[in-house]
Amino acid sequence: MNIDIEWAIELINGSKSQKDLHDIENKYLSRENGLITLEMKNLGKLSPDEKKERGKELNELKKTIADAIAKQAEIIENLEIEEKINNEKIDVTAPANYESYNCSSGSIHPITKTINELKEIANEEGFAIFDGYDVENSEFNFSMLNTHKLHPARQTQDTIYIDKNTICDSIKNSDHFETSDDEESDFLLRTHTSAQQIRIAKKITEKLRDRGVSPFEYEFKYATFGRTYRNESDGTHSPMFHQMEMVCVSDTLFVQDLIDIMMVILSKFFQISRDELKIRLRPSYFPFTVPSWEIDVFLPSKGEYVEILGCGMVHPKVLENMGLDSSIYRGYALGAGIERLCMLKYGIKDLRPFFGCDLNWLKYQAK
Ligand code: DAH
Repeated sequence: MNIDIEWAIELINGSKSQKDLHDIENKYLSRENGLITLEMKNLGKLSPDEKKERGKELNELKKTIADAIAKQAEIIENLEIEEKINNEKIDVTAPANYESYNCSSGSIHPITKTINELKEIANEEGFAIFDGYDVENSEFNFSMLNTHKLHPARQTQDTIYIDKNTICDSIKNSDHFETSDDEESDFLLRTHTSAQQIRIAKKITEKLRDRGVSPFEYEFKYATFGRTYRNESDGTHSPMFHQMEMVCVSDTLFVQDLIDIMMVILSKFFQISRDELKIRLRPSYFPFTVPSWEIDVFLPSKGEYVEILGCGMVHPKVLENMGLDSSIYRGYALGAGIERLCMLKYGIKDLRPFFGCDLNWLKYQAK
């Protein structure tokens, strides 16, 4: 049978929908009974020379048809997009249709609710609350936290770097991005709220100095909450997530103080009495604390220990970078993921709906 290629191309170019195109593709190229496939099956009946020639001819036909189909599919897709754009105009001035969401008013996002709960606890325990910046530089996110350029720990945080040329000059040249060492500092989205440690400590000590407090008598504690970013995404990781960080500095601090504050915060947050609360310290490694631990808490609702936060005694080098004399001062620091705390407290299994737009889910979780 001869295949009329001109007719085939005319059919393809005249098709107006992906469905028509699909039918044509089936007619010619279907693996079972496409016209070209059937012809290929007949090759066996030909002499070797004829087979070679006809085979080549059929392959060329097949390619011509497949190319034309791909080209037309793109044309149809573009037309469909254009049609959608023309038809689906959004009237931003129209009144909101709350009924379609089955809710008449907004609700607090579960992450915001969790942050608010933790802020309240931090306040009750005397921590000052500080905000931070999402865009940081590598000096504050890493170097000042004892994680220098070639330190392997930099590789463990899948950092999202920012092209310097995309940041406007007024921000790039602001105090916030001033760097103080020789390192050519990279701009990035902060990978942890620990990035705030040096900035906040300096801000506080400056204030204390202005108030006339002697540099040998500083004592402060602060908490900071906010968005953090890493290049990872699955059911338990989102490229944007939230963390909290608590730091305390004084000249008399012991590991027991760190344990005490964790017990208070966790018992208040999970509403488990302090006598019943069980935590487990697992030795770990963070460049900015020494010694460091990961903390597991026993949750009666789960009947098991779950990992909950990282902590440790602030590394002397970090204290020095805060402008403090490490022979006088000691500090403790702890950091935790807000989504994880929220999921464990409220029994939420998947992280993704937090950042979806299902208002009913968000409203239900916020109750
Ligand atoms: N910044 C760490 C992280 O994101 C968590 C952390 C660990 C914070 C130990 C701390 C700390 O303050 O002491 O993985």
